[in-house]
Amino acid sequence: MQLINKVLLYLLAIGVAGYAVYVYGFLPLGSLVHPEMRANFEVQPIGIYSHIFASAVALTLGPFQFSTMIRQRYTKLHRWVGRAYLAIGVLVGGLSGLYMAFFAYGGIIPKVGFATLAVIWLYTGLKAYIAIRRGNIGEHRKWMIRNFSLTFAAVMLRIYLPLSMIAGIEFTLAYAVIAWICWVPNLVLAEWRINIRNNHSFNTEVQEQRAG
Ligand code: HEM
Repeated sequence: MQLINKVLLYLLAIGVAGYAVYVYGFLPLGSLVHPEMRANFEVQPIGIYSHIFASAVALTLGPFQFSTMIRQRYTKLHRWVGRAYLAIGVLVGGLSGLYMAFFAYGGIIPKVGFATLAVIWLYTGLKAYIAIRRGNIGEHRKWMIRNFSLTFAAVMLRIYLPLSMIAGIEFTLAYAVIAWICWVPNLVLAEWRINIRNNHSFNTEVQEQRAG
């Protein structure tokens, strides 16, 4: 079951990142979005392109950072991938996402939803970085789980949008709701996972890593 979840996570994350890179790298800007969104993107090409390509780095690299095998056998690789994840993906993707939130489609509710997501994404990334600089592996992991659950908002958004269309929900309403539900439940689930796995398994591995 765990293996299936992991494979699904990799496939969805890399699938959405690949989709974004393909659509925004090879098709005219905003080809597949609402005409009003396209008009916004055309006015903010640097904002949207930097957001998409930087965030795609986070979505692609993120899942590999949770591999215990990579962390233990290739620690240097884990560190470099982590730096790229945080510096390119979260920092550039988050700042440009925050900027684009001011122009988001559909009014104040989605704007605030995306802006809040961007701020918490940046905050959890910073906390994860500070924790590891201080050598606190347990805290670093917890903040990274929270952070990646927010990166995964990009996947949930692209699952909910077609579902809302199939359900016949009007786009503006759906978009306003999805701007929130693409990340709030992820964060709740991340918190639940952190608590469940909690002390025992976290501490055992941290002790093992310190001993090794
Ligand atoms: C987690 C923090 C993120 C925030 C705060 C955020 C914010 C935003 C905002 C505000 C927009 C513009 C929406 C509009 O104009 O209505 C946008 C669009 C977009 N974002 Fe993000 N985003 C995040 C993560 C990601 C990730 C990880 C990806 C992965 C590639 C991504 C890919 C895209 C794409 C492709 C678009 C263009 C719209 C589309 O084609 O669906 N975003 N994002």
